Amino acid sequence: MIDLHCHILPGLDDGSPDLATSVEMARVALDDGIETIVATPHCFVDAGPTPAEICTATQQLQAALADGDLPLTVLPGAEVRAHPQLPEMVSRGEVMTIADGGDYLLIEPPFIGIPNYLEQLCFELQVASITPILAHPERAELMQRQPELCERLVERGCLIQVNAPSLHREYGRTIARIAADLIRSELVHIVASDAHNATYHPPVLSKVRRAVVQAAGEDAFHRMTQLVPARLIRNAEETAR
Ligand SMILES: [Fe+2]
Repeated sequence: MIDLHCHILPGLDDGSPDLATSVEMARVALDDGIETIVATPHCFVDAGPTPAEICTATQQLQAALADGDLPLTVLPGAEVRAHPQLPEMVSRGEVMTIADGGDYLLIEPPFIGIPNYLEQLCFELQVASITPILAHPERAELMQRQPELCERLVERGCLIQVNAPSLHREYGRTIARIAADLIRSELVHIVASDAHNATYHPPVLSKVRRAVVQAAGEDAFHRMTQLVPARLIRNAEETAR
């Protein structure tokens, strides 16, 4: 499996605090059957971390994993807080995209409040040939109040990522229901862990296999944790060549 949203890089955000925790997270992920993680630290337009910092941290973690004989691939990425300036910044190379490919951007909508610029932001990114991936909309007030917004964005070609912990009720019943409804409505492309540590918020995906299959059919889990993420990463590798 591929985990496309994971705060595994040490010391960059509220995820892993140190290298030892990151290595432990890698162990947990491997035990769960995850062989690739896109490291997605929180990023803010005015506070970073920068793409260069993310690349360096990714290389350091990858080296530590190799030293420990842990066969996990870690790719650079970011979970970027929604902001009207993003299209400009991405075009200047100031924001890290998924696997540093320049074509998919994981965007975190605010949990509280409804930013009226979100649709325009997604549109402007698409005009610049960047596909927005909306991170865990099931956790955002915006989507809870306006579920049709996800539908509109997906119709226009945006992708949606739901958190595995949302499905096993880590954030309560309402969010679990919204997440399952989104999956049932075929609006979800990716399920990822959004892990922040190795213990109470670990990089584990297999736990929600049943919930995803129940909501969207036999192939859905494999599609959302392997086929679609693999396609996004492959695109990045082809762009880099
Ligand atoms: Fe996250």
